[in-house]
Amino acid sequence: MLYYRIDSSTYHALGWLFAAGVIVVSVGSINMDSNGAAFNSDHSVSLTTRLWRGLLCRLFGSGWPAALGYRLGFQRRVVCREHRLTLTTHRAAARELRIAFAADFHAGPTTHRRVLQQACAALAAAEADVLLLGGDFVSLRADFVDELTDMLAEIPAPLGKFAVMGNHDIWADRHYITRALEQAGVQVLVNRNVQLAAPYEDFWICGLDDHLLGRPDAASAIHGADGHRIVLMHSPSGLVDLGNNAFDLALCGHTHGGQIALPGGRPIVVPRGPLCRQYAAGRFELDPQQVDSQRRVMIVSRGVGCSTLPLRIFSDPEVMVCQLVGMLETQEQVPAAAALPVETLPVEAFPIPDSLGAGAV
Ligand SMILES: [Fe+2]
Repeated sequence: MLYYRIDSSTYHALGWLFAAGVIVVSVGSINMDSNGAAFNSDHSVSLTTRLWRGLLCRLFGSGWPAALGYRLGFQRRVVCREHRLTLTTHRAAARELRIAFAADFHAGPTTHRRVLQQACAALAAAEADVLLLGGDFVSLRADFVDELTDMLAEIPAPLGKFAVMGNHDIWADRHYITRALEQAGVQVLVNRNVQLAAPYEDFWICGLDDHLLGRPDAASAIHGADGHRIVLMHSPSGLVDLGNNAFDLALCGHTHGGQIALPGGRPIVVPRGPLCRQYAAGRFELDPQQVDSQRRVMIVSRGVGCSTLPLRIFSDPEVMVCQLVGMLETQEQVPAAAALPVETLPVEAFPIPDSLGAGAV
C-alpha cells in the first residue's frame, strides 16, 4: 500500500492550483454566455466583480435559488399600485394619460418566472396608453432577458413602450438587451426623448441614462421636449443629473424598497447611489420653489424581481399605474418629500393569460 505524506508546501501548491482553476473557470464563464454572446464590452468591470459574477453564474445559473425562494414564500404576489397626478403647468389642459410602469424585473437565477408572469399580466390588465420600463431587466447574464421579451411583447400599449437601462443591464450587456427589447417592440431611450402621438402630443417621454454605470446627459434627454415631461430613469440618483431641469413626473426603480425591510417597509439596506435611501420607495413631491413653481413629482417603484438574494421581506413586488390629469380636475394635496398612501390592488384580480404560460411554476 502506497502512502503519500503531504507537507505544508504541497498544501500551499494545491491551494494555489485550486484558486487558479476557479479563476480560469470563472473568467471563461463570464466572457461568453450560453448563447455565445459576450458580456458587456464597453463598460470596464473590475476583475473581482467578473470573478464573483462568474462564480454566481456557475452556482445559480440553473435557477434553483428562485425556485427555493418562491416555494418558501419569499417571492410574493405582485401588487399594482395606482397613482393619480394632477398636472399644474400652463399646458395642464392636456388630456388624461394612463401610464403603466414597472422596473427591476431581474430575470435570472434569483427571480422566479411566475413573478415575471404576474407582473406582465398586471401591466397588461392596466390597459394603459403607454408602457414605461425602468431598467434592470436581468441579473448576471444578458440572455436572461429572452424569458421576458415575449411577455413584454404581449402587453398592449397603443402609444408605445419605452425603456431605460439599469446598472445590472449595463453590467451584463446593454447592447444585447437593447436589441432584444426593440425586437419585442420596446424603444430604449438613452438620453433622448419621444413625443407621444396625437391627441397626446403635449406629452414627452424623456429617457435618462443610468447614474451609476451609464453616461447620463439631462440636457440631451429633455432637449426639445416642449410640453409635459415624463422622465424615465433607473434610479432616484438620476435627480442629481437632472439638477433643476423642469419635469412633471419622474419614474424610477433601483432601490427595491430595500428588498429586505422592517415591518412597515423601512429598508434595512438600499442599493448604492446618492438619494437612494432618502427616496427608497413611494411618491415624493420635490421642492417646487426651485423650479419656477412647477410641481415636480417623483415616484420610486419597489420593482418586480429579486437581486442577489432570491427573497423579498416587507417589500413586495409591484407594478404601477399612473394617471395624469389636467389642472381642471380636483386638486390633491401632496405632503413634501413624504411617501403617500396609495391604492393597492392585488394581482389576483388579474387573470394571467394562457399565452404567458401561467400554468408553469
Ligand atoms: Fe434592481
